[in-house]
Amino acid sequence: MDLRIKSYQEYKDNYAQSIENPEEFWSVIAKKFTWKKQWKTTLEWNFNEPNIKWFQEGELNITENLLDRHLETKGEQVAFYWEANDPSEVGKSITYNELYKEVCKFSNALRQSGVKKGDRICIYMPMVLESVVAILACARVGAIHSIIFAGFSSNALADRINDAQAKLVITSDGLNRGTKQVDLKSMVDVAVNSCSCIEKIIVLNCINSNPPMQEGRDVWYNDIIKGQSTTCQPEIMNSEDMLFILYTSGSTGKPKGVVHTCGGYMVYTAYSFQNVFQYEEGDVFWCTADIGWITGHSYIVYGPLLAGATSVIFEGVPTYPDAGRFWQVCEKYNVNQFYTAPTAIRSLMAFGLDVVNKYDLSALKVIGSVGEPINEEAWNWYFENIGKKNCPVVDTWWQTETGGIMLSGLGKLSPMKPTHAGYPLPGIQMVLLDGDGTEIIENQQEGYLCIKFPWPSMLRTTYGDHDRCKNVYFSNYDGYYFTGDGAKRDENGMYRIIGRVDDVINVSGHRFGTAEIEDAINTNKFALESAVVGYPHDIKGQGIYAYVVVDGTNSAEQSQIISSLTESVSEGIGKIAKPDKIQLVTGLPKTRSGKIMRRILRKIAEGEKSNFGDTSTLLDPTLVEDIVSNSL
Ligand code: WT7
Repeated sequence: MDLRIKSYQEYKDNYAQSIENPEEFWSVIAKKFTWKKQWKTTLEWNFNEPNIKWFQEGELNITENLLDRHLETKGEQVAFYWEANDPSEVGKSITYNELYKEVCKFSNALRQSGVKKGDRICIYMPMVLESVVAILACARVGAIHSIIFAGFSSNALADRINDAQAKLVITSDGLNRGTKQVDLKSMVDVAVNSCSCIEKIIVLNCINSNPPMQEGRDVWYNDIIKGQSTTCQPEIMNSEDMLFILYTSGSTGKPKGVVHTCGGYMVYTAYSFQNVFQYEEGDVFWCTADIGWITGHSYIVYGPLLAGATSVIFEGVPTYPDAGRFWQVCEKYNVNQFYTAPTAIRSLMAFGLDVVNKYDLSALKVIGSVGEPINEEAWNWYFENIGKKNCPVVDTWWQTETGGIMLSGLGKLSPMKPTHAGYPLPGIQMVLLDGDGTEIIENQQEGYLCIKFPWPSMLRTTYGDHDRCKNVYFSNYDGYYFTGDGAKRDENGMYRIIGRVDDVINVSGHRFGTAEIEDAINTNKFALESAVVGYPHDIKGQGIYAYVVVDGTNSAEQSQIISSLTESVSEGIGKIAKPDKIQLVTGLPKTRSGKIMRRILRKIAEGEKSNFGDTSTLLDPTLVEDIVSNSL
């Protein structure tokens, strides 16, 4: 199934058609997939409720499209090369035929365990092939997967399990990360102590750590697939049935479960994958993200498999055994399209070019970036030293909520400009709004990035709380989906992302709400109150700066308090959310009405010592001087 646009002119023509008649545009593409029953209405929508339905009454199973459909022509083609954390460990590969059989076996095992269509299943796993099998088996039997990044803590895991009321967890005894091994099973054990919905835990043996297994609840992955049939009737899903939930942070409250549905997500991930990366038959694609994030869902699992692609899955980290690992893996598998995050590029830049130039990267055709704005220095380094000035850099802007890439060049077809994500993909009606919600038509302007028409892979709701979806995304500007980002358009209409305009911080491409980190800090016995802001960080993009009011009557050492506060964040969310800086303060700058003036705290975190703008509403201006003089 070739969905590829082949020239820039064709892109422009397709874009125009997709705006003129979106239903027609997407229905031509959707017809190329395997449906059990053709849909009746291509699109029904309004952004007020919101109510978005694509390909209504169509019936399908996404796994038939990414496995069964390929078997005849690509059965013996490699679907994934798996590269272990340890370079001396022999890698594995799995063909489409083999993947199909593994998925069928595990699907049968899930059904035998009582899993039914619509059940929620939590996946908390390392970067191994069985994780892909688990994801696809859920999809095959119509269970809704909720993948939780294995860097999240027990508490974070429990919150997400409870929110989705999952009945089963799929995990492993542990995982390998550089020189470390991380125990996952014990994290799950702690989490499920507070999750009465969990009936079963399926455990994959990854590190031979022999964890305790609770009789009647815990089963080994290898035991339950034993003897299972290698075929499995897929569940028939409606186009709008849920495919998965993925939790992501927002400016308020606990993370929300973004819901994606079967038909639209399938069409858009396949379409965007082929076009952005200009993937051709025989190419080898590598996305370095973790499957626990949306990038892994859409561009390790669904997009590439729908396209019948061959990809690499990597268990390890970019700096183990040394900072040349990415490039060694690119050489080893002759990677043609490489997709990573700016934070990884920035951290590797520091190690110099010797570890890059050792490897043959001549197979590369397209190199991609995702997750946060890529600064000019990193862009140039990537373009010159990895792409050898021969490969276009596709700077792909999108979100968990958009399901697929919204802004990006299409391989070498499109013009590119450092730090600019570029133009919207066909079907994506991107706009900039001013503060009043009026569309900015002219170029060379800056505004709030919004989308004014549905696309197939957009979120449909936030799990269990539709009002939240409406309030967060559809209520700021009437009739528009609000991304939470600010952006500029250059003289040619190319978009450049400025960053979040809400209380969301992006640390190494990971998204956290300031409120969520504050909540974790506030559980600490020393903390009375806290305020968290982001600040520019050379490697991570943004760092986390926490101002914490501590109880003055305690006698603990400052360093002891700070490590205890750090520990609270590790426990509440995970190590990935640990503040880079914690400043103990006697109070937070508040307005007379009690609102924290974050604007001032942000400036202080950025290193500003004065010029805080209008501070006339501050209750206690001396507090600010105090915070400035002790700032980190
Ligand atoms: C936020 C979404 C979707 C991939 C991983 C992150 C920022 C994402 C870019 C980019 C500038 C970017 C935005 C966005 N972002 N890609 N190419 N240039 N910023 O997914 O966790 O849902 O975060 O990441 O701020 O809103 P996510």
